[in-house]
Amino acid sequence: MLPDLTAQEIGDLKTLEQFIIERQDEHAHSTGSFSRLIRDLSVAAKIVNWHMRRAGISNIFGATGEINVHGEVQQVMDLRAHNEFVRALRRGGECCLIGSEEHSEAIPINTNGDSGGDYIVLLDPLDGSSNIEVNVSVGTIFSIYRLPEGFGTPTVEAALQPGVKQVGAGYIVYGSSTILVYTTGHGVNGFTLDPAIGEFILSHPDIRIPRTGKMYSINEGNYNSFEPGLRKYIKWMQQVDAEKGFPLSTRYIGSFVSDFHRNLLKGGLYMYPSTKDNKQGKLRLMYEANPLAFIAEQAGGAATDGKGRILEIQPEKLHQRTPVYIGSKDMVEKAHEFLRGD
Ligand code: AHG
Ligand code: MN
Ligand code: MN
Repeated sequence: MLPDLTAQEIGDLKTLEQFIIERQDEHAHSTGSFSRLIRDLSVAAKIVNWHMRRAGISNIFGATGEINVHGEVQQVMDLRAHNEFVRALRRGGECCLIGSEEHSEAIPINTNGDSGGDYIVLLDPLDGSSNIEVNVSVGTIFSIYRLPEGFGTPTVEAALQPGVKQVGAGYIVYGSSTILVYTTGHGVNGFTLDPAIGEFILSHPDIRIPRTGKMYSINEGNYNSFEPGLRKYIKWMQQVDAEKGFPLSTRYIGSFVSDFHRNLLKGGLYMYPSTKDNKQGKLRLMYEANPLAFIAEQAGGAATDGKGRILEIQPEKLHQRTPVYIGSKDMVEKAHEFLRGD
């Protein structure tokens, strides 16, 4: 049942699958295998969404009792989301190697004895998972690379590519509605899950991030361990000058993907900087920073580690961390001015 929709509106609905097929020609030598990979990811997203919608009813709250490779408490839903994405990618056959925030080693996918598909997928299966118990939006982030030439059996080295090599990246926010946003390097598009028909429907075509915004997102509890330039920048954003639109507002959900999504649509800046104790910040380059940096740039925004472009960082380890400044271009540039001490 599609209540409140006219026949005309139903006819205008474009599903993710229709959209992918229409756009397939944008990719040289397209064989349809990348399209199938996106479809596999979207199927896992629907299953995870189903788990999330029943979170208070089914027994998925709480910790597994394990500490993950990042030294963080693993939530039951972290593991379940990880398993669903691995299962969907294994079944789909387009992926040869998975790297996940919730698994210490890269996971090779062997289909019928050969090396599997052409793509490497790196995942944060559930971002912001400590927020689930209190009904705050969480998400999944994914990053896609091609298996480079010369890797018969894909190993972790095959995945250690800088973000500029991504052929696709996206995220799903399980929020007040569930939305999937992705890019293949030809702009950014968003699809809202219609629960009545179980399809992601194009709802946010060609997303562009405003050049500047009124919101900044940072864990200000760490203020005293930020570098002096960043402390000055925060004070600058807090100046009182109504005519010039100050002070800016702080918005910090504690789910990177949700903070990012809001800033993408409304304009804003998310920062997880280096702190006194954690010089590389907290966020993971391969699972969180690179995919959202690709999306930010494709939408007209920027993403840096406070010095240079995130997408140009040559990774050394799958689970490495990086400081992150991401969002509206002018706000990232302003942050740099302060960090340099201009
Ligand atoms: P994850 O749940 O995947 O471990 O990621 C949590 C991250 C990110 O989503 C969020 O913005 C950040 O951690 C919050 O960290 P603080 O509590 O240190 O602010
Ligand atoms: Mn995360
Ligand atoms: Mn996570």
